[in-house]
Amino acid sequence: MPKVQKVYACTSCGSTFSKWAGQCSACQEWNTIQEEVIVKQSPKENAKNVWRKGTKKEKPRPKKLKQVETGTTLRRKTHDDELNRVLGGGIVDGSMVLIGGEPGIGKSTLMLQLGLSLNAKILYVSGEESEEQIKMRANRLGKSMSDCFVMADTSLTNILLQSQSLEPDILIIDSIQTITSPHIDSAPGSVSQVRECSSEFQRYAKENGIPVFIIGHITKDGAIAGPKVLEHIVDVVLQFEGDRNYTHRILRTIKNRFGSTSELGIYEMNGNGLREVSNPSELLLSQKEADLSGSAIAATLEGIRPMLIETQALVSTSVYSSPQRSATGFDLRRLGMLLAVLEKRCGFQFTGNDIFLNIAGGIKVNDPAIDLAIVCALISSLEDISLNSNICFAGEVGLSGEIRSIQRAEQRIQEANRLGFKQIFVPKFNMKGIDPKNYDVEIIAVGKLEEIYNLLFA
Ligand code: TYD
Ligand code: MG
Repeated sequence: MPKVQKVYACTSCGSTFSKWAGQCSACQEWNTIQEEVIVKQSPKENAKNVWRKGTKKEKPRPKKLKQVETGTTLRRKTHDDELNRVLGGGIVDGSMVLIGGEPGIGKSTLMLQLGLSLNAKILYVSGEESEEQIKMRANRLGKSMSDCFVMADTSLTNILLQSQSLEPDILIIDSIQTITSPHIDSAPGSVSQVRECSSEFQRYAKENGIPVFIIGHITKDGAIAGPKVLEHIVDVVLQFEGDRNYTHRILRTIKNRFGSTSELGIYEMNGNGLREVSNPSELLLSQKEADLSGSAIAATLEGIRPMLIETQALVSTSVYSSPQRSATGFDLRRLGMLLAVLEKRCGFQFTGNDIFLNIAGGIKVNDPAIDLAIVCALISSLEDISLNSNICFAGEVGLSGEIRSIQRAEQRIQEANRLGFKQIFVPKFNMKGIDPKNYDVEIIAVGKLEEIYNLLFA
């Protein structure tokens, strides 16, 4: 007889309790505890063991670290350089990769594209779409469908059984939130289902050395839906993001046991799938028109990739007593701080003005070195003096109006040089070890905002 157990699980951290409470005592989140019914089965009828019948694995024993052989784990290179980059050089055998992202951002497209382009046996399991729908999408992508198997199913046991007999090189699960394990009686997507199914896939991946890609949904506030344990279980967490009104998509590494987390892949969503973008700056700067006031180009870094992005500011007289401040792609509080610095240290007046700030291309920038371009765009709009579009900026602005040093200045200079910019403004503290003679772009080192003002606007 299966044992029925009722538990209360936190959707945020995955902790379980015997009683309901308004606040989770483990992670202190409010209203995250939900009732779940778990049917525990005796080991004999446990569905988990069905797919493992054939596998004969020796019991592991402790080994000396120097006896452990390396070089045996394979990295499978894909045809997609952006994906190779975020995975740290390729797909590692037996690894488990979680891809999170908002609905409609292109997760299924990315995975199907991977399945169709690889010269390997792929099993693509979808719990969200029918086989015909997948076929239609594949036709749209226009790739050869040599060795890609598809299956529309949501049962964990059947997926693992089929996978065990098919022996694919890569297993792709389209959305962990739709998969159900038969010995847990709670709804698909609930904490215990997600936890159970993902740890089962993890075991499968490790025991068979097959890489498993899992697609995961994302909650309203941008976290991967399901308990945090999911992120702990998997080896790599990738986040697919972008503004749905634009075509650019960014694939970001959040966690990677086999490589760096500062990597980033950039794609463009076309009519026939996702296209890799190897030169993001060219894409983002292509709409440059005649020099207009209120626009400045920032030499930023996304992860470790240099990218030149246009920042735009509009400072206009406010009709209301409380002026508006609005920013797209930039932190509003940081904008407030930059305005305060400009007022207090440089004597500008923004009090009666509405201020709108926009980072071109729908991209969100967290790099502090974008400050300098934003300050210049603000001054340019306020004074109505346009900046030459051959100039770009990189520098963090401090509270006393000083320009603080930035990371990897040399890489930014190289990118500006490559794209044919005439001048780049960088913090003077970054000039150590940089030889201006090596570049065609003129490097202007600045230490204070006043110096920039005198050079560009006075
Ligand atoms: P999809 O991969 O279904 O998103 P997710 O799995 O993350 O929910 O992508 C759906 C969107 O992508 C959809 O709005 C249509 C668009 N799209 C294209 O623009 N071009 C294409 O070739 C494909 C396949 C989809
Ligand atoms: Mg999908």
